[in-house]
Amino acid sequence: MRITVIGTGYVGLVSGVCFAELGNRVICVDKMEAKIDQLNRGEVPIYEPGLQPLISANREAGRLSFTTDLRASVEASELVIIAVGTPSLPNGQANLSYIEQAAAEIGQAMNGYKIIVTKSTVPVGTNERIRDMIRQHTEEVFDIASVPEFLREGTAVSDTLNPDRVVIGTDSARAAECLVELHSRLTDHLIVTDIRSAEMIKYASNAFLATKISFINEIANICEKVGADVTKVAYGMGFDKRIGSSFLKAGIGYGGSCFPKDTQALIQIAGQMDYDFKLLKSVVDVNREQRYNVIRKLEGLLGNLAGTTIGIWGLAFKPETDDVRDAPAFEIIAELHKRGAQVQAYDPVAADNFRKEYGSDGIVYCSTAREAAWQADALCILTEWKEFQELEPLEVEGWLKSPYLIDGRNIYEEEQLSGTNIVYYSVGRPGMN
Ligand code: UGA
Repeated sequence: MRITVIGTGYVGLVSGVCFAELGNRVICVDKMEAKIDQLNRGEVPIYEPGLQPLISANREAGRLSFTTDLRASVEASELVIIAVGTPSLPNGQANLSYIEQAAAEIGQAMNGYKIIVTKSTVPVGTNERIRDMIRQHTEEVFDIASVPEFLREGTAVSDTLNPDRVVIGTDSARAAECLVELHSRLTDHLIVTDIRSAEMIKYASNAFLATKISFINEIANICEKVGADVTKVAYGMGFDKRIGSSFLKAGIGYGGSCFPKDTQALIQIAGQMDYDFKLLKSVVDVNREQRYNVIRKLEGLLGNLAGTTIGIWGLAFKPETDDVRDAPAFEIIAELHKRGAQVQAYDPVAADNFRKEYGSDGIVYCSTAREAAWQADALCILTEWKEFQELEPLEVEGWLKSPYLIDGRNIYEEEQLSGTNIVYYSVGRPGMN
C-alpha cells in the first residue's frame, strides 16, 4: 500500500517507519525543513531505541522517504495518516490548528479515492470535522477513520509492531476492510468500531492509566503513614486479573507529552458537555501534589534549603527517552530554586532538551552521575535510568557531602543499602521514607 504520514513527531515517525517495515511504500511529510533534511541525512531527531536501524534499512530498501511536499505525497498515496501534534491550549483544550491545516491541504491535493486516517489524539467529533474540512476542497470520494495510537516512548517500535490491540473507528466498510488488512499482521485484536467511540477509547485509556498511577501514589502516601510497603501492596494487587500489575509503580507522578495533556483535554471535553469529571480532576491534582513530596522530604532532612547544593539524577519524564515534556524535574528544580538551593543535574540523554526549556540559571549540567552527586548536600533520583540502578550505593555515599538520598522512583532495595550510612527516603516503603 502507498501511505503518506503527515507529521514526523513520535507517533508519525514511528508509525511511518513501522508501516514501511511491513512492506508498504511510506512517505513521511513534515513542514519543518530542518527536520526533513536531518532525516534525509539518516539522522533521527528523537532518542528512541531501535528506530535508527529500521529507518536506515527501509530507506535503503526504497520503502521509506521524507519530504516537505505534502501535495505530491498525498497525490501518490491511497492512505493518508494525520499524525500532527495536538498540544494543550492554556485552558487545557486540545489545539487543533495543525489538524485543521493538514485537513485543508489534504483536501486540496485529493486526486482520487483515499482513506484519511487520524492517529493524533483528538476530541470526540474531530474526525467528522476533518471530513467536512476536506470536503470543502474536493469532489473526490474519500473515507475517514480514527486509528488512535497507543505506543509508549522508549518502547515505541516494539509497541507499534506488537500492539495489545488496534482500534479502527470508521463508518465505511471499504475503509474498514483496507485498514483491517493493513494491521492484520500486527495483532489478532483488531477492534472495528464507530468513529466517536474510537476517539473516546484513546482518551479513556490514557485517563484510566493516569488514574492507576495517581491511585497507587496515594496508596504509597498512606503506606508511609501506616508502615506498609507500596511495592508489596502493588504486587499483591496485581495478581488479580481485574486489576492487573502494570502502571502500579508509585513515584513522583506521571509526566510526558500524553497523560498530562490528555487528562486535561478529557476534563475539558466533559466540561463542554456540562459534565464535571470529578475523578479525573482529582487524578490531576494528586499527580501535581506528588512531585512536592521530594521537596518535603528534603526539607525534613536538611531544614532550610537556602544555600544547599542538591544533586539531581534524571531529567527525562521516564527512562529510555530524551523527552522532557511535563517532566516532574521541571517543577521540582523550580521549587528548589525558589528555596535558594543550587542544583547539579545529570541525565544520560535528556540534559540538552532540559537546558533548552529551563535554561542554566542555578543549574550545573553534569556529564556523569558522579559529578552530579559530588559533594551535594542531598541527591534526588527523578528518573529510573538503569545506569543509576547499577551504581553501588556505597560508592555513591562516598561522592556526597551528606549521605542523604531521596529516591523518587524506588530504584534501590533495602538490602543494597545495608553497610552504608545512606539516609534513604523512597516512596511508600517503611523505614525508607
Ligand atoms: C502513554 C501511554 O502509556 C501510551 O499507551 C500512549 O500511546 C501514549 O501515552 C500517548 O498517548 O501517546 P508515554 O507517555 O510514552 O505513553 O509513557 P508511559 O510509559 O505511559 O509513562 C507515562 C508517565 O507515567 C511517566 O512519567 C512514567 O514515569 C509514569 N508512570 C508510569 C508511573 O509513574 N508509574 C507507572 O506505573 C507507570
